Amino acid sequence: MTTSAAAVQVNAPAYVQNTKLIAWVAEIAALTQPKDIVWCDGSQDEYDRLCKLLVDAGSFKKLNPELRPNSYLAVTDPSDVARVEDRTFICSERKEDAGPTNNWCEPAEMRAKLQTGEAALFKGAMKGRTMYVVPFSMGPLGSDIAHIGVELSDSAYVAVNMKLMTRMGKGVLDVLGTDGDFVPCVHTVGAPLEAGQADVKWPCNPTVKYIVHYPATREIWSYGSGYGGNALLGKKCFALRIASTMGREQGWLAEHMLLLGVTNPEGKKYHVAAAFPSACGKTNFSMLIPPEGYAGWKVTTIGDDIAWIKPGADGKLYAINPEAGYFGVAPGTNDKTNHNCMLSVQRDAIFTNVALTDDGDVWWEGMTDTAPAHLIDWQGKDWTPQIAKETGAKAAHPNARFTVPATNNPALDSEWDNPAGVAIDAFIFGGRRSTTVPLVTEARDWTEGVYMAATMGSETTAAAFGAQGVVRRDPFAMLPFAGYNMADYFQHWLDVGAKLQAAGHGVPPVYCVNWFRKGADGKFVWPGYGDNMRVLEWMLGRIEGKAQGVENAFGLSPRYEDLNWDGLDFSREQFDSVIGVDTASWTQELKLHEELFQQLSYHLPAEMPATKAKIEQRLAA
Ligand code: OXD
Ligand code: MN
Repeated sequence: MTTSAAAVQVNAPAYVQNTKLIAWVAEIAALTQPKDIVWCDGSQDEYDRLCKLLVDAGSFKKLNPELRPNSYLAVTDPSDVARVEDRTFICSERKEDAGPTNNWCEPAEMRAKLQTGEAALFKGAMKGRTMYVVPFSMGPLGSDIAHIGVELSDSAYVAVNMKLMTRMGKGVLDVLGTDGDFVPCVHTVGAPLEAGQADVKWPCNPTVKYIVHYPATREIWSYGSGYGGNALLGKKCFALRIASTMGREQGWLAEHMLLLGVTNPEGKKYHVAAAFPSACGKTNFSMLIPPEGYAGWKVTTIGDDIAWIKPGADGKLYAINPEAGYFGVAPGTNDKTNHNCMLSVQRDAIFTNVALTDDGDVWWEGMTDTAPAHLIDWQGKDWTPQIAKETGAKAAHPNARFTVPATNNPALDSEWDNPAGVAIDAFIFGGRRSTTVPLVTEARDWTEGVYMAATMGSETTAAAFGAQGVVRRDPFAMLPFAGYNMADYFQHWLDVGAKLQAAGHGVPPVYCVNWFRKGADGKFVWPGYGDNMRVLEWMLGRIEGKAQGVENAFGLSPRYEDLNWDGLDFSREQFDSVIGVDTASWTQELKLHEELFQQLSYHLPAEMPATKAKIEQRLAA
């Protein structure tokens, strides 16, 4: 429903009963001065209408319905292609509570800049635009583990993406009722339109961006970007940064983890949660197809990016995927690396920054062995393999994405929408490391597992602005996403484990993996993708007490004979080159752990240096 906002009339539909929500919408409309307000009901009609509006505005291109039914392509401004970590702020009262790995600003100072000051950025920021009221639930509607948010955004692109990525619309307001709580999320592209001013295809503010979180009041304010995690505020901002602070207060975990189910030929099913940094193959792993030789094994997807995990009354850790869709990296995705994903994006998808084929379909680097003879690249220019050879031009941006509903995934787990969640049997942590870190290592206990996760390093990818391929510490794959001090975050993980153990319960085993070790030729040694099943099988064998391994300085890893090599030609020498713990490299690695601990010295749990000392002793032995 649409109303004029000249007098900042909210005119909420009759089904909106939450007075706090109505008052807040009025307040934000008064601040940002949109031309009108649309309350999103989440219906298919509304989705189609908004997509048509985006097509008419030139922001979306409808793809050929015979090749890619019900799908669209959006291309962004070149300044707006990734998460902006250097413009992301955690505005806790005290700097120490944001910690040294987050940007911090004193809340009153940030509020002056954004909301209250003379030249506050949000003042009039939505002029000439529609403000969409987007109610969403992170997690199955009504689940004890789920939480509700409402995003006010002046971007129709955001509204339609939120429909695919979350449970969005009227049903959420029914659950919210008259006095339910929600996380308020305000988003503007930061490009107000003066009367008569023509709009551009991808409105954003090319020079000013702020992604701001106030943990104390659980508010999110995002200015200047229309892209992904900067703008779809249910994802990184709410489900990780704000939720991690809620989890700390309430005794649960909000994690950058995929969730998968794995069923063995005897029909026994396990659930695994795995954390990897952005663009390190979480979506691929969550949709893994077991290789030849694995008849009877099945992997099913619960989530591909985020998990909310709460201890249940029975002492098990129960996890839900708070999202309802996938916002995945397109380049590199193909029928061999992720067949289930290719099937998922066959229809009903929004593609962002991929290339357009001459027959109205999409293409990205790595989709097929041979590139099409001609494309329109993500910046609207002609692209041919020859041009690429001469200029290095990419057809798709390296961080190009697809947005698609989870229900399109042929490998979707039957429990993915279960409000009670699934019980976790193992945690996996993995970075992208071309050297040093073994293919797989089991932690000897919870503390060692927390240490492995805390000290994880990874080579940076195109998911965030900045140099790529540089190793940075990415504790728990949460470096850009922890909403509070990382050292306190380590303590929270230790506390969750200690509490379960003190109550006489077990804790899931923790594994560290690295699919990315390279040989002297600079090529990946481990085949990865479906063959990661071999590592998964070994882990499940360990849980069942069947699989063996040997201890090393870091933990416990399989020997060659402990993995199943059916259908794969992988020599003992190759295996040694991905599993070895080399003393010189580890001595160097531990210096980097020490650097991290120096950086996080405020509140660093004593268990961290103590575990490091034990590794040093083992290396020296
Ligand atoms: C994502 C990310 O978009 O981690 O999932 O950057
Ligand atoms: Mn992610």
